[in-house]
Amino acid sequence: MQTVLITGGAGFIGSHLAERLLREGLRVRVLDNLDPFYAVGMKRANLAEVAAAGPDRFEFLEGDLRDPAACRRAVAGCDAVVHLAALAGVRPSIEEPARYWDVNLVGTQVLLQQIEGRDAALVFGSSSSVYGGNRKVPFAEDDPVDRPISPYAATKRAGELLCHAWHHLRGNPVTCLRFFTVYGPRQRPEMAIHQFARLITDGAELPFFGDGSSRRDYTYVDDVIAGVRAALARRAEFAIYNLGGAATTSLAELVQHLERELGRPAKLRRLPDQPGDVPVTFADVGRAARDLGYRCSTVLAQGLARFCAWYQRSKREGRVP
Ligand SMILES: NC(=O)c1ccc[n+]([C@@H]2O[C@H](COP(=O)([O-])OP(=O)(O)OC[C@H]3O[C@@H](n4cnc5c(N)ncnc54)[C@H](O)[C@@H]3O)[C@@H](O)[C@H]2O)c1
Repeated sequence: MQTVLITGGAGFIGSHLAERLLREGLRVRVLDNLDPFYAVGMKRANLAEVAAAGPDRFEFLEGDLRDPAACRRAVAGCDAVVHLAALAGVRPSIEEPARYWDVNLVGTQVLLQQIEGRDAALVFGSSSSVYGGNRKVPFAEDDPVDRPISPYAATKRAGELLCHAWHHLRGNPVTCLRFFTVYGPRQRPEMAIHQFARLITDGAELPFFGDGSSRRDYTYVDDVIAGVRAALARRAEFAIYNLGGAATTSLAELVQHLERELGRPAKLRRLPDQPGDVPVTFADVGRAARDLGYRCSTVLAQGLARFCAWYQRSKREGRVP
């Protein structure tokens, strides 16, 4: 039976992946330091749901990626590692760039060193932010990615480069997956969809940056998980894939969708564009479709309905702020 280590598995994407792999009958180990970037209670709740999917095949190690001993324990006996632990988010990275560098780069390097000598494949959670202010849409994997516009984006691109150097030297299979704004149940509370749902529900003002025309490619979490699963199965030598929704939605349209779904109007507080934010993200998923059989099967309206149902239930039960 395969054992998969998921770093950051107490978080949003990692907990969905852990659940999916346990349901398939695999062994799953999670390494996560329960970083307080957002409510630790949400992460503990995620872990409880994950454990219920396969209690006898699930192991949680509370530990820090930057600690070689914790990584050594975590990788022991693993056939594959999905590396999702990171400080995420563009705007906070502008406030604390050194901390982002430390966790996302030093942490990744420590983990890679502990995998050395094992026949484990690595999947690295990268980001659409590596495309920076790229105006050529949709973004394809061979587009230039040497102009990141936030410290977070720079750490994600540098992470891909670290992974490539490691693959070249050690030979382990590596797949870097560039996620495009992932949403769904358990989404991080500071991300736009979750934050907007909370503000609309509470009747509070919603910070609306720019003129509402900035566009994002939103990807439902189950589609991303299917892509990660396919990457694990394929064990490419070295590959980079976009995992996106392959469609764009403006900020103004997103707010309208949420207003409809939650049955309440949003109170907009109009603000100038934010530094570090890109005007558009849009994934070309042709390569992932060809090699991984990837397909974005959840359209935004459907995914938002599922997110809002989860949000409203979690709010009633006091599990989200
Ligand atoms: N959610 C998205 O839209 C999105 C988009 C692009 C890329 N990504 C990437 O995907 C990954 C997962 O994102 P997410 O949205 O699930 O974020 P998340 O914050 O919910 O999950 C990340 C997890 O990493 C853990 N972590 C942080 N620092 C750690 C450390 N030093 N040691 C061990 N664990 C640590 C956190 O406690 C958290 O549980 C991240 O690498 C992120 O950069 C996410």
